[in-house]
Amino acid sequence: MLVLGVETSCDETGVAVYEGGGGLLGHRIYSQVAMHAPFGGVVPELASRDHVRKLTPLIREVLAESGVEAKNLGGVAYTRGPGLTGALLVGASVARSFAWALAIPAVGVHHMEAHLLAPMLEERAPAFPFLALLVSGGHTMLVEVAGVGRYRVLGETLDDAVGEAFDKTAKLLGLPYPGGPALEALARSADTGGEVRFPRPMTDRPGLDFSFSGLKTFALNAIHAAGDDPRARAALARDFQEAVVETLAIKCRRALGATGLKRLVIAGGVGANVRLRDYLTGMASEMGAELFYPRPLFCTDNGAMVAYLGWLRLRAGQHEGVAFDVAARWPLESLPAAG
Ligand code: KG4
Ligand code: ZN
Repeated sequence: MLVLGVETSCDETGVAVYEGGGGLLGHRIYSQVAMHAPFGGVVPELASRDHVRKLTPLIREVLAESGVEAKNLGGVAYTRGPGLTGALLVGASVARSFAWALAIPAVGVHHMEAHLLAPMLEERAPAFPFLALLVSGGHTMLVEVAGVGRYRVLGETLDDAVGEAFDKTAKLLGLPYPGGPALEALARSADTGGEVRFPRPMTDRPGLDFSFSGLKTFALNAIHAAGDDPRARAALARDFQEAVVETLAIKCRRALGATGLKRLVIAGGVGANVRLRDYLTGMASEMGAELFYPRPLFCTDNGAMVAYLGWLRLRAGQHEGVAFDVAARWPLESLPAAG
């Protein structure tokens, strides 16, 4: 079955075609970063309008590049939530109308579930069961994954998501939006580090929950102390990143130990962070576990993960009637299993 995937939950328009048994045939991502950059963050109304402009041409381009005619599609998948309501509604309306016109089924998928299963698009894909560290701009979760739709959330953030902590600290450092990649680049340029000891929040007590809001307050004070010295600022970026990476690694180690799982998946935008990947690779091998992650392009928002998850759910017979809705909030554990 050929499935068209549409992602519009935030500031990326993503489209892809996935063929069951054949893999990914084509994908494109249109990023709105340049449009939002002058505002220092995503402006929801601008995001919705831009999805309206870009989505239909992008679908045409991806179908052409995949060598697929619309009439041969077997289904359409789109992100139903969580995300920005207006942006979600654009993807949902276009995808559902497209499916209706072609008389094929449509399925609205969960954005975080799509991130979680994105490593399955890679040649070296993890087998079930595995532990997933989901780290994005809106979510930070440790999830025990027994199968598609069979999730147990072991821990999550009590306040800011880790991507949000990167973005806010980057802003304090005067870096442009999106802050995560900019902060990583600044940290890489540092020739020193280790001068400022950021806290490793909630690692001194049992449990698998996270809290990242204190780090930005700590960063604010440290940045004031560093003043305008560019070397001190780069060192601060590095010390901040080390604290985040080590905190995530401590919780992953704990969760692997508690569950006995031997496979660890990192997914979501922050999963593109090279320092995080390297650190977790070392930790996993120490624990006799294997680490899996999507290629950097599929860590951040994309249509490929939506098309793939849509195929999994459509092949399990899951799709909806003509009426549709979106879900700005949507608990991962409320999802149905699919095989
Ligand atoms: O998954 P994603 O594209 O969107 C959401 O579902 O939220 O994640 C975006 C988040 C942003 O906070 C961004 O700053 C962060 O991921 N991010 C990074 C890196 N690349 C993206 N954070 C740290 N290092 C990176 N290389
Ligand atoms: Zn995302």
